[in-house]
Formats: sequence, structure tokens, C-alpha cells
Amino acid sequence: MEKAWWKKSVIYQIYPRSFADSNGDGIGDINGITAHLDYLKDLGVDVIWLSPVYQSPNDDNGYDISDYQAIMQEFGTMEDFDRMLEEMHKRGLKLVMDLVVNHTSDEHRWFVESRKSKDNPYRDYYIWKDPKDGKEPNNWGACFGGSAWEYDEETEMYYLHCFSKKQPDLNWENEKVRKEVFDMMTWWCEKGVDGFRMDVISMISKDPAYPDGIVHNGLYGDNSPYVCNGPRVHEYLQEMNQKVLSKFDLITVGEAAGVTVEEAKKYANLDGSELNMVFQFEHVDAPTAEHGKWTDKRFELKRLRSILNKWQTQLEGKAWNSLYWDNHDQPRAVSRFGNDGPMYRELSAKMLATCLHMLKGTPYIYQGEEIGMTNAYFDKMEDYRDIESINTYKEFTENGLMNPEEMMSALKAVSRDNARTPMQWNTSAHAGFTTGEPWIRVNPNYLQINAEAAVEDKNSIYYYYQKLIKLRKNYEIIIDGIFEGLLEEDENIYAYARNLGSQRLVVACNFSGEEVSCDLFDRAEEGKELISNYEYHKDGMLKPYEARAILFEK
Ligand code: GLC
Ligand code: CA
Repeated sequence: MEKAWWKKSVIYQIYPRSFADSNGDGIGDINGITAHLDYLKDLGVDVIWLSPVYQSPNDDNGYDISDYQAIMQEFGTMEDFDRMLEEMHKRGLKLVMDLVVNHTSDEHRWFVESRKSKDNPYRDYYIWKDPKDGKEPNNWGACFGGSAWEYDEETEMYYLHCFSKKQPDLNWENEKVRKEVFDMMTWWCEKGVDGFRMDVISMISKDPAYPDGIVHNGLYGDNSPYVCNGPRVHEYLQEMNQKVLSKFDLITVGEAAGVTVEEAKKYANLDGSELNMVFQFEHVDAPTAEHGKWTDKRFELKRLRSILNKWQTQLEGKAWNSLYWDNHDQPRAVSRFGNDGPMYRELSAKMLATCLHMLKGTPYIYQGEEIGMTNAYFDKMEDYRDIESINTYKEFTENGLMNPEEMMSALKAVSRDNARTPMQWNTSAHAGFTTGEPWIRVNPNYLQINAEAAVEDKNSIYYYYQKLIKLRKNYEIIIDGIFEGLLEEDENIYAYARNLGSQRLVVACNFSGEEVSCDLFDRAEEGKELISNYEYHKDGMLKPYEARAILFEK
């Protein structure tokens, strides 16, 4: 039987606002994407995941949708979209749409109606609660600062918004809401899209008791135990699967905040009853939770290894993994897990690529990762655009949780804007992203780091990714090999094997800038080196940030 195509695919994520601007208004757009499809085709990716392009007032850059069946004006028209989809399909590229249905924009027609009166037919599309003792219904905080409840004068009730107050949560308990969502998805499928990346889909079922959460930062209660992986989430996804997903040949990935391995086995069960895979967050979460994600502490290899190994071994035979270092919400991988200084940027970016792409699962590449783009390191608050960064800075500094220096330092390390600076195409003004004024500052390192330079240099990170993607197409073991952790106590090396039949693929990655000894390749000459970021060598060492993958016959 033909293996599910999504297991063999490599997915490239585009954040449209920052990818390519075709009309000089400083904002990336759909025609900008269409113009660069050959670059992606040459890279070798199979699928493109597009962050939201729907109509939106852009409180959260499109993750606040006011019309699911219209294109955001700044990004173009539905005709532009149709042409882009056609051009993708012509090249054999598939398109995954971002599906944001935990919440809508407060400017969505449903919400505009809903807030009008308690007996409006759309009232129950959202989650409304009476005040409790004259205050919010409970102590929950919102992801982007402040309370998760917003008081509405009109009807003297509160509505729930887990994200910004312009992102009211939909009430999935309401059958009509589910039907609207499923119909809308069907409409896109009939248009020819090839799948969905489902935004915070683990949050669509809330604990009906709405209990107070534990207060971690002295301000608001943590709602995650009561909104993530709630009581009916699997029922809803099974219904979605029956009514929509199973009717088309799609790829589906759920963004699953707070997901555990046990939960993931249900969401991504190989029986196909829900989704193909989920994004888990453990490996990108901060080691301490004192102020949630807000810290400039470096990751620890031991912790990273134990998380990745846990997901690899425990989903084996049960569910499918997604593999990522980067996306539009995370800092740049090479800055966070590698070394973005001039000496080791390329080597460490290649090392990270090897490490991720040789694991079992479907790998994701975030725009710019394939050329080793780095964090923005903005020095001034004025440079930030992200609602989460701006609101948190204000809330934390005003309430004395962190002082401005600490907060700036945390933002440099983890702000979402690190991933959102414009794609660096070439050395012309604004990195060739726009002929106008970019909506967010371009990283000044574009003179050295850009796609044109990468395509010209046979030794670049770009070609390294291309090679990794080709290997996946040629070696079954990369897709199906069973994972086995190696050197699990090592301070510097992350190593593992993949086993399939008579073959064994051994992968070792040096996460440090030192030369370290490694005895995994003592008989390297008996195997075949599939890829490495250094010249072939025989000694029992790994050079700084070296990665090697060698295939042995047992
Ligand atoms: C997801 C998105 C993020 C967005 C949030 C609210 O986490 O990836 O960018 O802000 O959901 O929609
Ligand atoms: Ca534009």
C-alpha cells in the first residue's frame, strides 16, 4: 500500500506578512508568495503551510479572523489566492491552510451579532458569563496579558477570550458553531486546499465548571488545566474527522498547547480517527515556569534530549510526530539551540537541521530557517510589533515582575518578533523583501545572510536542507526506522539510531563549540555517510557543532 503521503513530506511554513511584498506597501502578500514558488520547489519541500491569509483586523496578525471565506485586503484578493494555489499544484506543491477556530475576531459578523443582546441567535456562538460578586467570572489570565474576561456594557456580561480581547473564544458546545466550522472547512477543501494546521485546537473544549486557576505571577490564574485538552476535545475532532477530514485526502496537524504524550496518542492516533499529528511544545518550553516563557536562560541539552526521546519512543507504533525547532511564535532556532555568531552559525544551523530531519516524524521548516536567519535582537521597544511582546512588557514592568532590562533581555531571547522580521532575499534595500517601508525592521545582517547568497554557494545551509530532503525520499529508514536513544548521559552530544530490518542509521550531533570525543563511529568506514556538515574523517571526535549520519548494514 502507498504510504500516507504526509509521512514522507517535508513542510515549509510561510508567514505571509513577512515573506515577500509584491506591491511596495511594506507588507508581504499572496502575489509575493507566488513569485517565489520556484525557490521552494528547488529546495525540495512538498507542502506549504500558510499562516492565516483571511480577512482580519490584524490585532494578532491574522490569527483574529473576521471572515473565514475572504482574503485579507493587504494580502490580495481571492483571485490572487486561486492563482497561487494553481501555481503550487502545477509544481506539485500542496497547500495547508491555517485553521483558527478556537476564536474569531470580535469584528466577525457572528460576534457583532452575539454581543447585541442576550436573545440574539448568535449569542451562544461565544462564551458569555455573568459577573461574580461584581467582578470577572473567575481569575483566568489571557495569553496576551490581562484578564481572560472582557466586560460588555451592552448586556452587562463577560465574554471569554483566552488570547486578546479582540479574539473571543467560540463556544464549541453549540452544535451550530461546529456546523459552521465544518461547512467552512468543506468549502476550502472543495476549493482544492490540501490540509489544515489547526490553531490551538487543544483549547476548543473548556472545563464546564470554569474553576479559578493557580496564580503563578501574582496577577492572574493559569487557565491551561481547564482549557487545554478539555473533556470534549476528542469528541469534537472525531466529529470533524467524520464530517470533513475523512472525505478528502488531507494532511492535518493540530497545534496542541499543553499536550502530553498520552493525549497526543489520541489526537494523532494512527487509526486516523482524529488528526495526522500534533505540535507538542515541551521541547521549546522554558525550563523554569517562574514567568512562563519569559526568560533569557539557554536551553539544557539533557532536558531537550529527554523530551525529544520521550516523544520518539512513546509515540512509536501509536501516533505520528511532527518535528520542528522554529515557527512564527518561536525565536530563531540557530540563535536558541545553535550559535548565531559568525564562526559557527552555518555549522550549527546544519547540525540542527540534521538532528531534526533524521528523527521520526514529519519535519517543518520555517521561512528563513533554510538560510540560517537569526534572532532580531531589537534594542528598542518601538521596534516590536507583536501584541504578546508589547502587552507583556507593559504588564510585567508595571507590576514589578521584571525590570525593563530583564524584560528586554527576555524579549531578545524569546519574542515572537524574532521569527517575524522580513525574509532576507538578497542584498538590495530591505533585503529585497519590499521596495517600500517594511512593517517590521529587517535584520541588518541581511547583507551576509540572504537567499540569493545561499543559492549561489554550493556549501550553504540551503543546499544542506535540500540534501536532507532528498535523503528522506531515498531512504525508507528515515521515514520508518525505529528510534533508539544513544549516549543518553553525554553533556554535549545528542545521538540516536534508527533501526529498520537489517539497517541501522546512527546520527550524532555536537551541540557545543568544542571538539568532543565520540565512539559511535569507530567503524565508520563499514558504513555509508549519508550527510555531515564537515569533510569525512575517521577519528573518534566530533568537531564543533559537527553532525554526522552514517548508515550501517547489521
Ligand atoms: C497560536 C498561533 C499564534 C496565535 C495564537 C492565537 O498559538 O500560532 O500565533 O497568536 O494561536 O491565535
Ligand atoms: Ca504588499
